[in-house]
Amino acid sequence: MCGIIGYIGKENAVPIILDGLKRLEYRGYDSAGIAIMNEKGFEVAKQKGRLTALEELIKQRPIKGYIGIGHTRWATHGEPSDINSHPHVGSKNKIAIVHNGIIENYKQIKERLEQKGIKFVSQTDSEVIAQLAEYYYNGDIVETVIKTANALEGSYALGIMCLDEPNKLIAIKKDNPLIIGVAEHGNFIASDVPAILKHTNRVYYLNDKEIAVLTKSGVEFYNMDREPIYKEPEIITWSVDSAEKGGYEHFMLKEIMEQPRAIRDTIQSVLANGDNGKVIESLDVTRFSKFVITGCGSAYNAGVVAKYVFEKLCRVPVEVELASEFRYKDPIIDNNTLVILISQSGETADTIAAMREAKRRGAVTLSIVNVMGSTIAKETDYTLYTMAGPEIAVATTKAFSAQLVMLYLLAVTFARKLGKLSDEEERKLFSEIASLPDKVSEMLKNVDTIQKYATTCVGYKSIFFIGRNIDYAIALEGSLKLKEISYIHSEAYAGGELKHGTISLIEDNTLVVAISCCERLYEKIYSNVEQVISRGAKVLFIGNCIKALPGEKLEIVNIPVINELFSPSLSVIILQLFSYYVAANKGLDIDKPRNLAKSVTVE
Ligand code: F6R
Repeated sequence: MCGIIGYIGKENAVPIILDGLKRLEYRGYDSAGIAIMNEKGFEVAKQKGRLTALEELIKQRPIKGYIGIGHTRWATHGEPSDINSHPHVGSKNKIAIVHNGIIENYKQIKERLEQKGIKFVSQTDSEVIAQLAEYYYNGDIVETVIKTANALEGSYALGIMCLDEPNKLIAIKKDNPLIIGVAEHGNFIASDVPAILKHTNRVYYLNDKEIAVLTKSGVEFYNMDREPIYKEPEIITWSVDSAEKGGYEHFMLKEIMEQPRAIRDTIQSVLANGDNGKVIESLDVTRFSKFVITGCGSAYNAGVVAKYVFEKLCRVPVEVELASEFRYKDPIIDNNTLVILISQSGETADTIAAMREAKRRGAVTLSIVNVMGSTIAKETDYTLYTMAGPEIAVATTKAFSAQLVMLYLLAVTFARKLGKLSDEEERKLFSEIASLPDKVSEMLKNVDTIQKYATTCVGYKSIFFIGRNIDYAIALEGSLKLKEISYIHSEAYAGGELKHGTISLIEDNTLVVAISCCERLYEKIYSNVEQVISRGAKVLFIGNCIKALPGEKLEIVNIPVINELFSPSLSVIILQLFSYYVAANKGLDIDKPRNLAKSVTVE
């Protein structure tokens, strides 16, 4: 969950690394640090808190050099503090490292090294890597890195500098992402593409236990037997602008506004004979007796929406599982099961574990992933890429919307292949899906109502979301979005469940957000709305079939009409805007909510 970056080249590494860290800060923001190797040895600046604190420190005590590594931390072992921040340097001052991951056997290694008189200064698992590498160092940093990596259990993406070999920057990874970028003026390591996109779009994806040796002029790759490996660079098509705020106050608002483009590009990638379309067509769906969809957080919520769509269209049973639970539940799957894994980052540890469990049990795996070359994208049998572009805000918006449309397209194609839809019916549904970008665009032109309404909601201690059927599925996402960025407690319930317990929570001035896009269920959800209003609640009623009139206790937001199966793509826009403006009115750090990180690479 931490972010790492390294540079070796002709330019001063400090501003390059600081800029990269700014783009990686969404991966963790408990502390940040940078180490430069120059004629004085290592110069390290690290500081608890946001990157601005580190920038301030470097302003007061400038450092300079042409090779360096940087880190932004999401604390796992050891509280956020200056001393626990990365980079870590061994006690002989010979080797400096940055680490993203968790070293599971760090206590044993630490004890062993302490018995040999090595003094540790931090409480982190990462420091053992620097200390162990120094202990092993025999004049050959590549050999040392191989020996060190062989001793580590757990996950790591590492950037390593060695004072005795000042013209090299070393990288190695296992179970955490690391890319190598090559540019005219120098070469990079980074946790992800946006960190270096400004400098280059030519990147190599490191596989587990591959070692990269970067110099000013090039990069070489080796396996753990130190045999050279040949790797092809990939050209990234994401634009530099896509990783900038572009005048918006927050990435989240920018990414909400980018949704028509993200949805359109994703639809095109399937319908306009793109790679995704070819992958879907190549899958023999008739062999599956059930589908299992899994993911975490919002990706899981996309799966809950998809269950309604797949079951309705394909008439095949669908189970939706939290990826964090999946591998521990002895899942009933076999080679007649299609396991669909949804992940924006493609690096979520729980989803990776679910994928590996599914493969171990012989299921066919298909992923819906946003980040090219990510672990999940590489390891599943079939990979579909959402076309959201880089998503920087911790709270997902455009990637979620792209996942939804990808799932609709998949469900419709499967239904036709299964003989549940005629070609004509398939075309009709595709054209409804294709109308989504314009409908979302229209909605985004007029955000005033929800923006104004959100100003009245900052004082609520608790907000409930209700819906029925597919509206309930998207209520889950509305509730998650609100709680993660506004810190207001919130729960989502199926409307029919209120009377089974939840309604006891309703009192004067509780806010209930009700969603109504399933016209056939309008009367049912409306009676839930009346029930909560008569017990003192205020209601924000979002839908495309609302017949009630607004009142003192009832705010109505009408959204465009569409087939109920695809309506979550429209209702979610209002839910995202509502959360965003509530959080904005509370003056919160929307792009980096407390305690969270974008890419959750720990279990
Ligand atoms: C919520 C959010 C998280 C992610 C979850 C899975 O806004 O962003 O709940 O959806 O951590 O992440 P990915 O999709 O990268 O696997």
